[in-house]
Amino acid sequence: MSSWSLDSWRNKPILQQPTYQDQELLKSVEAKLGVYPPLVFAEEVRSLKKQLADVTDGKSFLLQGGDCAESFAEFNADNIRDFFKVFLQMSVILTFAGGKPVVKVGRIAGQFAKPRSSDFETVNGIELPSYRGDIINSIEATKEAREADPYRMLSAYNQSAATQNLIRAFARGGFADLHKVHKWNLDFAQGSASNTRYEALADKLSQALSFMEACGITAENTPNINQTVLYSSHEALLLNYEEALTRKDSLSGKWYDCSAHMLWIGDRTRQVDGAHVEFLRGVENPIGVKAGPTTDPEDLIRLIDTLNPENESGKMNVIVRMGADKVGNHLPELIRAVEREGKKVLWSCDPMHGNTFKSSTNYKTRDFDKMLLEVKNFMQIHQSEGTHAGGIHLEMTGKDVTECVGGGQEITEENLYSRYHTHCDPRLNAHQALELAFLIADNLKESKD
Ligand code: PEP
Ligand code: CO
Repeated sequence: MSSWSLDSWRNKPILQQPTYQDQELLKSVEAKLGVYPPLVFAEEVRSLKKQLADVTDGKSFLLQGGDCAESFAEFNADNIRDFFKVFLQMSVILTFAGGKPVVKVGRIAGQFAKPRSSDFETVNGIELPSYRGDIINSIEATKEAREADPYRMLSAYNQSAATQNLIRAFARGGFADLHKVHKWNLDFAQGSASNTRYEALADKLSQALSFMEACGITAENTPNINQTVLYSSHEALLLNYEEALTRKDSLSGKWYDCSAHMLWIGDRTRQVDGAHVEFLRGVENPIGVKAGPTTDPEDLIRLIDTLNPENESGKMNVIVRMGADKVGNHLPELIRAVEREGKKVLWSCDPMHGNTFKSSTNYKTRDFDKMLLEVKNFMQIHQSEGTHAGGIHLEMTGKDVTECVGGGQEITEENLYSRYHTHCDPRLNAHQALELAFLIADNLKESKD
């Protein structure tokens, strides 16, 4: 394999990129980002990798989730806090059911760039360059707004830094204290079935904490009781941004992409000889690769060999996003190829991206039952192959939006218009996310018994 350098990706074929008109401006923004402080620290990335190695071995479970696309418009403390609350709730539900630690990774603090099915889209009858995420252009439907603007990378960096800062404050500063398990409930969730179920679980947890305290196990001697870690992740799509934030770690002398703890490659940009694989093969971060229904087992092995030549545990996460109806046909052959070759892979299930459809009311949506079915099929397949269903990858929010149909609130195609706020794909709302966590927990419990 040819040698890797920070910019060796620039000599490879690349898909899903904007065209920047002003190359000088682009260079000056890249140079600026290149001297900005990293958003994460290499030692944190190493500790995530260790935790993901435990997930790979079936000792822990990975919960990864957040926005499809973060946006400049929706950037505020309430959104971050409410997402954090639901994520903590889901994590407690899954820990209780599986009896294993849950590794928490947000699609947050950098999840801005979006792959699109076409370079152009028609909005209100006008053909425009596609919206590619706030880090690249604006969602506003004018030709000017859709121009790729390098300055947006600086805004995305600043927003990511502030988001990361608040997450660290919440995680370390007492917000994630298990004694506050009742307070993570969201006001609008009161009275729903999954909320009632959550309250009962929170009561049990509070009792367990009192018991542990009586036995001398307290936050003073066991910091996990009142602190947690929420790692950050995003799709490494805009390589100008990723290159600029990649730094050589002074302790190990190795390269780390310090824009996030974990990065993944999307289903549209996972070509073995392409620029995205080239860039990510040179960094030490844990790497996810989306595997859709067109993923060929031999290609997957080549990808794994390229991205993880040392077969290091905790490095490779294959994020399966086949669709509920296809996962049964395609996943077993991928698992068998990986097992045959002895590759260390963390398998997680993204039940979102293979189950998207256009509603009769013209919204891009997903059906809760289909998503649940994909998760169930994924778990069943792993059980029969004797491998670990390591985790789940979700698009979700802490808000009460109406973007996916179904769930306990019985959101219908006719209701979607009422609070359809996403900048890209439809997300689970807080009720649906909690409900899905309980249903996954039931499955985890069954496979444990
Ligand atoms: C995504 O995760 O938002 C996404 C675009 O996924 P995929 O690459 O699997 O389509
Ligand atoms: Co998406």
